[in-house]
Amino acid sequence: MPSSSDDTPSARQSWLEERWVEAARRFDAKTPVIYQQEIEFDERVSDWALGNTGSSSLFLTGPIGVGKTHTAWRVCRLWLENAVGPGIPWKGSPVIATTRATSLFDALRPDAQSEGRRLIERLQTADLLFVDDLAAARASDWTRERLFEIFDERYINRRPVVITSDVLPSNLTEIIGPRVASRLAEMCRGNVVLLDGDDRRKGGNR
Ligand SMILES: Nc1ncnc2c1ncn2[C@@H]1O[C@H](COP(=O)(O)OP(=O)(O)OP(=O)(O)O)[C@@H](O)[C@H]1O
Ligand SMILES: [Mg+2]
Repeated sequence: MPSSSDDTPSARQSWLEERWVEAARRFDAKTPVIYQQEIEFDERVSDWALGNTGSSSLFLTGPIGVGKTHTAWRVCRLWLENAVGPGIPWKGSPVIATTRATSLFDALRPDAQSEGRRLIERLQTADLLFVDDLAAARASDWTRERLFEIFDERYINRRPVVITSDVLPSNLTEIIGPRVASRLAEMCRGNVVLLDGDDRRKGGNR
């Protein structure tokens, strides 16, 4: 139950901790198996999750198999720990929305109607939005407009996003349209992290 003003500090603390456990449980349950494994990542990435950079958002780029998606799942988890860890006040259980660009673009198609509308609202308001492989799909004019609705709402409310893409933000205009690309550039300024190395699936960086 939500706390009231006459809760004792310890009752409030334990309520916050319950919220945190619930948020972590929800996130862990939807994390794909291979991305549940802890990994070490670049300091700039953890700095973002810990709120030590000026940017609201994080853009992870690099070649195939270098670890972009794995890094993104783990850094979202770290963001969650930092947002609601024991002792840190939070209004409730934070929601992290996660999606792949391919399924997102598909779900935003014109005939999706009220389902599409609900999805847009969910992605506009989630406390953190993670979009995997942003350049993997081609957006129609309709989809670009819907993407604009999602990103503009997040942009004006400074709600963070985590993006992975093998294409740099400056080259995304063709894919997501100029207005979304412009907002993303500002949201991720100073926080575009290039993961370098060989394809880990082929034994790189091990
Ligand atoms: N820091 C890491 N340490 C160990 N293994 C890692 C690390 N990062 C990623 N991996 C492993 O490397 C493989 C590829 O990672 P991932 O799927 O994140 O790559 P990607 O860059 O998203 O690839 P793609 O461009 O094809 O989407 C996976 O098996 C993943 O578990
Ligand atoms: Mg990936």
